[in-house]
Amino acid sequence: MTQQTPDQYRVFGNPIAQSKSPDIHYIFADKSQQNIDYQKQLVDPDDFSNAVSAFIHQGGKGANVTAPFKEQALAIADELTERASLAGAVNTLSFKEGKIFGDNTDGEGLVQDLIANNVTLKQSRILLLGAGGAARGVLLPLLAQAPHSIVIANRTVSKAATLCQHFSDIRLSASGYQDLEQQHFDVIINATSASLSGNLPPIPTSLLSQNVVCYDMVYGKDETPFLKWAKEHGANKVIDGLGMLVGQAAVSFEVWRGVTPEVQPVIDKLRASL
Ligand code: ATR
Repeated sequence: MTQQTPDQYRVFGNPIAQSKSPDIHYIFADKSQQNIDYQKQLVDPDDFSNAVSAFIHQGGKGANVTAPFKEQALAIADELTERASLAGAVNTLSFKEGKIFGDNTDGEGLVQDLIANNVTLKQSRILLLGAGGAARGVLLPLLAQAPHSIVIANRTVSKAATLCQHFSDIRLSASGYQDLEQQHFDVIINATSASLSGNLPPIPTSLLSQNVVCYDMVYGKDETPFLKWAKEHGANKVIDGLGMLVGQAAVSFEVWRGVTPEVQPVIDKLRASL
């Protein structure tokens, strides 16, 4: 029996060596009997659109896009999903019918991971820390879960206010960190880049006096400063962003292949190799 040529996928980024996307997609493909080839590609900062064109030319079916190209991926797409358009960033490209389709699966990855961890989002009071690309990328999928409210806290409050205006949803509001004192939240999501540099956003400890779930979009071998702080101050549950990483990949896989892969075995495997 002749083996069919596998469909080709890529992840474009700079840097890219650290990317776990090929490992994740190969496990998904193996478990769901999908025949794919998935490679990392380092792209020069000013060469993104050429790299995508060349890949399409050689028959590529789709690509993930990571930093710093998510906005450029949005710009080159012929068609966008609403979640990509509102996120202002694309992490999943599909090439079909002679067109480039742009999607963003980051927010859905987060939501699915929260749900998998039994976190109730419906009617919940959510505090989202940060107002950069990571925060913007998850707002629409979070709002789609029908929370009671989402407060976006940022050091630069004007950026949080701009995000609120952009989404124009009555459940959204902007805040500075110092104004959070005495408020109650059910879920606190850290979408700042603070953990990447070993820092903690200036959150009042009073927020943790009640049963609260803390989620950090960052993950690593060691607990992030935010999750460490949350545990020390009595958070009900702390979750890092490894499940979000696998979750966003799973939604991309589903977009491309029409198959929903199982995420937990992949999360467990990656966790063991951190
Ligand atoms: P990303 O795409 O990862 O969101 P970004 O767009 O550069 O990156 O945004 C980084 C976010 O992390 C911003 O909300 C930033 O706050 P400011 O807008 O006030 O700068 C936030 N951030 C970074 N380091 C932080 C820290 N030590 N404490 C609190 N917020 C921090």
